[in-house]
Amino acid sequence: MKPTEPPKLCPISQFDSVKAAMMSPDLTVNHPFRATRMVLGPTILDLEGPRHLSARNILLRFFARASAEDAQEQLIAPVVRRNWEAMAAAGGGDVVADFAMRVPPEVVFRALGLPEADAAEIYRRDIGPIAGFIADNRTGHAEARAASERLSVYIDGRPAPEDTGRDGIGEIIASYLDAGLELSEVMADITLLLAAGTETTVCAIANLFFLIGEYPESWNGVLSGDIPAKAFVEEVVRFEAPLQRTFRFARRTTEIEPGMVIPRFSAVELDLCGANQSQPTLDHPEGWAPAEGRGVGATFGFGRHVCLGKALALAELREVAALLRKTGFQASSIRERSPMGTSTFRRPAAIRLALGPDSG
Ligand code: HEM
Repeated sequence: MKPTEPPKLCPISQFDSVKAAMMSPDLTVNHPFRATRMVLGPTILDLEGPRHLSARNILLRFFARASAEDAQEQLIAPVVRRNWEAMAAAGGGDVVADFAMRVPPEVVFRALGLPEADAAEIYRRDIGPIAGFIADNRTGHAEARAASERLSVYIDGRPAPEDTGRDGIGEIIASYLDAGLELSEVMADITLLLAAGTETTVCAIANLFFLIGEYPESWNGVLSGDIPAKAFVEEVVRFEAPLQRTFRFARRTTEIEPGMVIPRFSAVELDLCGANQSQPTLDHPEGWAPAEGRGVGATFGFGRHVCLGKALALAELREVAALLRKTGFQASSIRERSPMGTSTFRRPAAIRLALGPDSG
């Protein structure tokens, strides 16, 4: 790979081509211009080959445990409930800032054995600048690097977890070192989990509320039991992919589909939203239609880098939808919605709710 000259850009937005690009051995994530690498150092999302596989196997085991059903009860449900009760007790507020931005960082902190009381502050102080740079790597590099350094120092000096059976970070570090990986590699991956893993889920929860406001009749279908909550949340992440795009780089000239030639050294921009709107196996993939079997499209990627936090993120969304259903949340409680954003991490800036005394 030639690291010094900016690569030629090939945008791809059709579902089958995006999938083929993600499966192609000729398109790699390994490139110095990849934003995650520029700010965190080479993470699992920037590596290929045996080092990627070793790290992936370790994190797969960790996420399988974190998203198992009993873990959901202990890990996710209390965080969702507490934050929703706080919103309800305040009579409402901005559900993006006061709820969507709180739940995913607290869940990941709990899963990793970090004090969840620190989650909101670390999210604001450090994860914000890192996610901002990953979203648009033309600005904010110095701020994001400084935030990444602070986050590493925080992780390094973390207090021992109250429950020693829940030292997620300790277990991950030990497993990486046992597998012959470096301490710098595990630190980069833990910061990736804290940053990219939370920002995407923040968007997904914000988008859930946005789409309840946009399609109140569908939400009434969830309340009446006509539409399964699982189908609703899957359509939320399919219809408004929280991560809009990701990149690959061509190691050699390659034809990923008949007639679609990608020249050597090109950067390939994979449009996940466009992919979801063109999935050939769905009726009207461009439209909103929550129903069983539509799936989540390309939202979590495909192939060797497919999202490791997919089960955890979907479990959080199902938990939120189940709680809203239980409390009889009405779309009319949504008083104001900013438009959907256009950043790589896609969500509205704010959604104002007015909650009555029965919403907690
Ligand atoms: C709705 C929420 C989420 C969405 C939409 C999402 C989306 C994605 C996508 C599209 C990829 C593949 C990127 C590529 O191939 O270039 C990915 C990878 C990844 N995601 Fe997620 N993600 C979400 C939540 C999470 C969470 C909660 C975590 C962990 C806390 C997480 C951890 C990861 C990791 C570690 C990878 C890299 C896997 C690898 O390179 O082998 N994600 N995610």
